[in-house]
Amino acid sequence: MIDRITELREQALAELRALGRVEEIEPWRIKYLGKKGAVTSILRQLGALPPDERRAVGQVANETKTLLEAQLAQKENELKEAARAQAMERERIDVTLPGRPLALGQVHPTTRVLREILDAFVIMGFQIVEGPEVEWDYYNFEALNIPKDHPARDMWDTFYVSPDGRPGEMLLRTHTSPNQVRVMEKTRPPVRVVVPGKCYRYEAIDPSHESMFYQVEGLAIGTNITFADMKGTLSAFARMLFGGERKVRFRCDYFPFVEPGVDMSIDCYVCKGAGCRLCGNTGWLEIMGAGMVHPKELERVGYDPAVYTGFAFGLGPERIAMLKYGIDDIRLFYSNDLRFLQQFR
Ligand code: DAH
Repeated sequence: MIDRITELREQALAELRALGRVEEIEPWRIKYLGKKGAVTSILRQLGALPPDERRAVGQVANETKTLLEAQLAQKENELKEAARAQAMERERIDVTLPGRPLALGQVHPTTRVLREILDAFVIMGFQIVEGPEVEWDYYNFEALNIPKDHPARDMWDTFYVSPDGRPGEMLLRTHTSPNQVRVMEKTRPPVRVVVPGKCYRYEAIDPSHESMFYQVEGLAIGTNITFADMKGTLSAFARMLFGGERKVRFRCDYFPFVEPGVDMSIDCYVCKGAGCRLCGNTGWLEIMGAGMVHPKELERVGYDPAVYTGFAFGLGPERIAMLKYGIDDIRLFYSNDLRFLQQFR
């Protein structure tokens, strides 16, 4: 009898070990530990045994029952645990996947250079002011010594707008110079301003001409301001932007609102003046126009030219950016090609 029980126990344990799924547990339990199960029926038969045998067999049978119950509980836990792990694996979300990149914008090359230019003048005590892009003929031309029908108007190809009853009197400003006049009309000297903004010209568009571009105008008016102050201020600016070792050159040039007028160049920082492609073999790069503000312009705004003098200058941020970054076509700035724009991080 004891041998039978031992055999039964080994068989039950072997079958239990072989179970692979939670659903197989219950049939096994019924087979061995259920009401009509193999172990249960042995226990039932104990009563029929002689008393001395009954104790020994009873003990083995009860131990077997307890053992199988314990093993059953353990196996059930294992299978449930495995099933849970499988379910988890099925529902698993891979949080390590790289996220979708956020499109990060960056500052436009014109804005970037504009800020550098303005910073340089702000450090030297200039204030930043702005003026209108749609301008009166008076400020864009007349007040700057460029009368109607004067050949100097040919220097600026102009888009005119026609407000009611005043055709030809309003236009898209061709430069930021009108703000020299606007600022002086509103304030008394000393004046130190820089005026950034968009300008418009009716141009045949090519690698160095756009119909919309930026300028920065500068104006300094006071007592005892000389040509030397202008040279010193503009040289300091050029060295802040293009490096402390830059040489500068001022040559005579004509702008109706300054006398004398100059164009300012820096020595080419690529060839150091020897001549190369960037400077067109001249060794020099022109970076702005400037000059001493014309006495007529001062008179017009009520500044006494015998008391006050000053200088003005105008430069193009796109041109400065082209020189700084070796860009050979101004059209790249506003054609919205990301391959170009994304280079300026
Ligand atoms: N407004 C001029 C232009 O667009 C540039 C300029 C030249 C501005 C000389 C100035 C100046 O203030 O003094 O061509």
